[in-house]
Parts: sequence; C-alpha cells; structure tokens
Amino acid sequence: MLFHDHFQNFKSYQIPKAQLIIGDMPYNLGNNAYASNPSWYIDGDNKKGESELAGKAFYDTDKNFKPAEFMHFCSQMLRKEPKEPGKAPAMFIFCGFEQQFYLIELARKYGLKNYINIVFRKNYSAQVLKANMRIVGNCEYGLVFYRDKLPKFNNKGKMIFNNMDWIRDNEKNKIHPTQKPLPILKKLIEIFTDKGEIVIDPVAGSGSTLIAAIELERKAYGFEIKKKFYNGALKWIEQTKQIKQDISNSGYAKTELTKIHPTLF
Ligand SMILES: C[S@@+](CC[C@H](N)C(=O)[O-])C[C@H]1O[C@@H](n2cnc3c(N)ncnc32)[C@H](O)[C@@H]1O
Repeated sequence: MLFHDHFQNFKSYQIPKAQLIIGDMPYNLGNNAYASNPSWYIDGDNKKGESELAGKAFYDTDKNFKPAEFMHFCSQMLRKEPKEPGKAPAMFIFCGFEQQFYLIELARKYGLKNYINIVFRKNYSAQVLKANMRIVGNCEYGLVFYRDKLPKFNNKGKMIFNNMDWIRDNEKNKIHPTQKPLPILKKLIEIFTDKGEIVIDPVAGSGSTLIAAIELERKAYGFEIKKKFYNGALKWIEQTKQIKQDISNSGYAKTELTKIHPTLF
C-alpha cells in the first residue's frame, strides 16, 4: 500500500510495524545532481556542450531532507525486538560513502546501535568526467542497522560477503532518476524477512521496494510525496499485483498479454 504523503505523517495511517525498513533518502544534492556525470553534457561529450540536465536536480524533492526525522520514523516503525534470537528486525539505508559516518552516529541516537556496511560493486561508473580516466567510483554504499539482537538472516546457513554485485534492471519500468534495481532490493528482502512479513519504504520513489516485496510475497507499505512518482509507482504496483493474480488464476500473465495481442483472446 502506497500513501501519497510525507512519511512524517505515518501515525494517521496505522500501518503495522516492519520486519525490514528499506530507505533511499534524498541526498539533498539540489542543482548539482549531475556534476561529474556524463549526462551533464550532450551525448556525454563535453565538446558538444551542456545538456538539459546541466545544473538540474534529480527531482525537485531532493532538498531539505531531514535524516533525523527519517531515523525517528524507523525507530518507531521497526517492530520490537523479539525474545528469541535470530528474528530481530533490521533497517537498510542506501547512502553515499561520506554519509555513512554521520548516519552511523545518528542511528545510534535512535537506538539503532549496531550496523553492517555493504558495498555494491557496479561494472560501470557515472564519474568518468571528473577523474580524467584515473580512479573512478563504481560503488554504491548501504548500511544495515539493528538494535541489540542480530537481525533475521536467511541464507540457508551460509555467510554473505558485504560486497555485492550491482545487478542492473532492465529499463522497462523506469519511473525515477535514482531508481534502485529490483534484484538488489529482492536480495535484501530475502535475507532479512520471511514471506508474509512487513516491509516499509518511507521514501518510495518509483515504488521499487514495494514491487520487490510484493513479488516475494511480503506485505509492503510506502510513502512518496511527489505526485509524478506516486502515480508511476501506483501503476507499477497495480500491474505487478495483476500479473501475480493472473498467473495464480490462469498460469500466465493474461492481462499483460492481452495488451500486446488483444486479438488472441
Ligand atoms: C532517492 S528517492 C527514492 C528512490 C527509490 N528508492 C526508487 O528506487 O525509486 C527519494 C524519494 O523520497 C521522496 N521524499 C522526499 N521527502 C519525502 C518525505 N518527507 N516523505 C515521503 N517521501 C519523500 C522524494 O520525492 C523521492 O522520490
């Protein structure tokens, strides 16, 4: 379920507490979002001049975000520590390298005292213009936070390395400029939750976390303030639910196929 509202208003919605919160906070980059990214220039070529993205923000809600309010939300909406070991809830935040230190300190103030850092390794870089082909960043970073007890960990008894490949999505449902790939979100959800449990994304953007959760049969809740993203996300969520329903009823994605080949049905 996705709400077109600020996550700060969560109390009005009485949503259940989460086993996992996944958050991809706005980076407050404002009009510098494409600095060092090839998209700043036409066709990524600085000899061709600046593109329409030069000096632009990723989206107009990428400013004035208050991470403390986000942490407050998470501390309130993560379910309580259960008595049994191996079942505790977790939260995951995507973040920039430099943000990690600040977020670790901030989370501690909200009772999320422990963390595991995760590095996602891309096979491409968005920084090629900055570094004159020297060392360029190809990583995304994330932090898993938890209170006292170690979070639920599903991996059939095997360990997981804290660096993972960044698996790109196909571009079929590109709704948000900083949309996270479904394979990454699904991996996180599978590790930290079981079927039927609650996953919340307070800053849902395209709704990618909710889609990943729905596909894995978890219950998903989210908030998104920007109408354009909210509408796109809602459409994607409805489509995903319809596909699941069709497959369960008829064994194939009937509604989707009807759109492509209406005459066959
Ligand atoms: C980095 S994006 C999330 C992208 C998302 N992970 C995805 O894969 O599509 C952060 C989103 O948070 C939204 N946002 C910013 N402040 C918010 C707030 N107070 N409540 C809810 N959404 C907010 C922005 O509009 C933006 O779409």
